[in-house]
Amino acid sequence: MRIDVLTVLPGLFDCFLREGVIGRAISRGKVDVRVHNLRDFTTDKHRVVDDVPYGGGPGMVLKPEPIFKAYEELSSKGEKPYVILTEPWGEKFSQEMALELSRKPRLLIICGRYEGVDERVKEIVDKEVSIGDYVLTGGELPAIVIMDAVLRLVPGVLGNRESLSADSFSDRGLLGYPNYTRPSEFRGMKVPEVLLSGHHKRIERWRKEQSLRRTLKMRPEIIEKLKREGKLTEEELEILKEIEKEGGNPA
Ligand code: ADE
Repeated sequence: MRIDVLTVLPGLFDCFLREGVIGRAISRGKVDVRVHNLRDFTTDKHRVVDDVPYGGGPGMVLKPEPIFKAYEELSSKGEKPYVILTEPWGEKFSQEMALELSRKPRLLIICGRYEGVDERVKEIVDKEVSIGDYVLTGGELPAIVIMDAVLRLVPGVLGNRESLSADSFSDRGLLGYPNYTRPSEFRGMKVPEVLLSGHHKRIERWRKEQSLRRTLKMRPEIIEKLKREGKLTEEELEILKEIEKEGGNPA
């Protein structure tokens, strides 16, 4: 997979692209990420990327010309990229969207900035994406969030030590189960006995129950949706019944 990023703050991406799982995937050539400075696509002496809004009002608006020029240059060779624009009012980013995007051969992420982007840029945009209902100073952190969630789903990016299978949201939206590591007792807090038992069937059942408990407590609407859609197994419905019988707090 290849991702191009268009930004006025390319330095913000340095650490993200160098460190950790993503840094390793890039240096091993599993994914190709290229960050472009929007100013490199201007044609004037002062490399101006923004201007005052027509009609007046506060703030500056990103000009269309450098963005179109970048889009045309970057998509002139090979596969056309799927174009994302980060905006606080965009479609809410989710694990499902991350999975969908991870299957595209090429993405171009345009980082919104200042008070906005000239509306005509939407002509080349496939999806406007928000990472949540809050306003950041620009689209760079959203671009990093989107890339991190998308790239870890690309085959070969996660090593053997990391795995997708126990991810929250990856199994029908259910949240993950609690994890423990050594020591088996820490400051009087013990690891649940079942995890030390070596009994794989019991461990599997405990994890399923914990995942359901956590989802019921933190995101009850996910359980409701799965029930409505008939996506819970007999065993899971039985576990839920038992939890409900206990009454009170599901966790
Ligand atoms: N730009 C500013 N805030 C944002 C948000 N929450 N999501 C995406 N882009 C943004």
